[in-house]
Amino acid sequence: MKKNIFFVLFVFLLSTGCAQTETSQSIKMVHSFSHKKGTVLVAKPSIQITNQQDMNKNISGVEPETELFIISNPESMQVYVNKNRRLPEGYAPDDLVEPDISHLSPEGDDRRLLREEAARALEELFAAADQHGLNLVGVSGYRSNQRQTTIYQSSVANNGQEHADKFSARPGTSEHETGLAIDVSTSVIAFALEQTFQQTDEGSWLEENAHQYGFIIRYPEGKEDITGYSYEPWHIRYVGKELANHLYHESLTLEEYFGYHY
Ligand code: DAL
Ligand code: ZN
Repeated sequence: MKKNIFFVLFVFLLSTGCAQTETSQSIKMVHSFSHKKGTVLVAKPSIQITNQQDMNKNISGVEPETELFIISNPESMQVYVNKNRRLPEGYAPDDLVEPDISHLSPEGDDRRLLREEAARALEELFAAADQHGLNLVGVSGYRSNQRQTTIYQSSVANNGQEHADKFSARPGTSEHETGLAIDVSTSVIAFALEQTFQQTDEGSWLEENAHQYGFIIRYPEGKEDITGYSYEPWHIRYVGKELANHLYHESLTLEEYFGYHY
C-alpha cells in the first residue's frame, strides 16, 4: 500500500516536471504565407525561442519553403493529416469532452480532451483493456495549436530539427490538434511514450485490438518511410470502426489508403 502511494507520488512529480518543461519557455512561431495557390499555401515560418538559456536565439528558416495542402474537411472522423496536409489556420474542434478513463493529467486539463465520438470509443477500449486486467493510461490527447507549437519547438531545441521531425509534428499538422488522437502508456514503463510500450502486455493488446474500437496505430513499425514518423506504438488515432478494421486487416496506413505518400 505504502509502495503504491510512493509510486503515485513519483508519477505525479514526473508529470508535473514535464508540464513545467513545456511551459518554462516563451515560444513564438510566425507563419508568413507568401502567396496562395488554390488551397495550397506556401509557408515560410520564422520561429523564435526565448527562455533563460536561449535568450534571443532565433531559429529562423527551420522549415524550408514548403507547400502544404490545406485540409478542407478537418471535422471529419476520417480527416487525413500529415506532414504535407495541414489543418486550416485557427481550426479547433467544437465538441471536445473528457473521456472517463485513467489519465496522467488532472481533471480539467486540456490533455484529457478528445472529440465526443472518439471519447466514447476510447472509453469502450479502456473498459475492454481493464476487463483483460490491463492498465492503460491516457497521457496526451487533444492539443491546441499553441501547445503543439510549444512541444515541437521544445523538441527542436532539445534534440535538433532532424530528430524532432521524426517524432513531433509541426504545428498545424498534428493529429492531436484534431481531437481524434491520444498517446497512451502504462505503469510498468512509468507511463513513458517509448517504443518499449509495444513489448508490454498493454502495448501488444492495443496493437491487436484497437481497431475493434475504431482506432489505428497511426505510425506503425516498418512504415516510417510512408508516414514520415518513427514507430509510435503509443499514438492511436480514431477513424471509426469500419475504416479502422479495413486498415488493420489490410495492414495499411492512412497514406496508403488515401493513395499517396506524405
Ligand atoms: N508525435 C506525433 C507525430 C505528433 O506530434 O502529432
Ligand atoms: Zn501522439
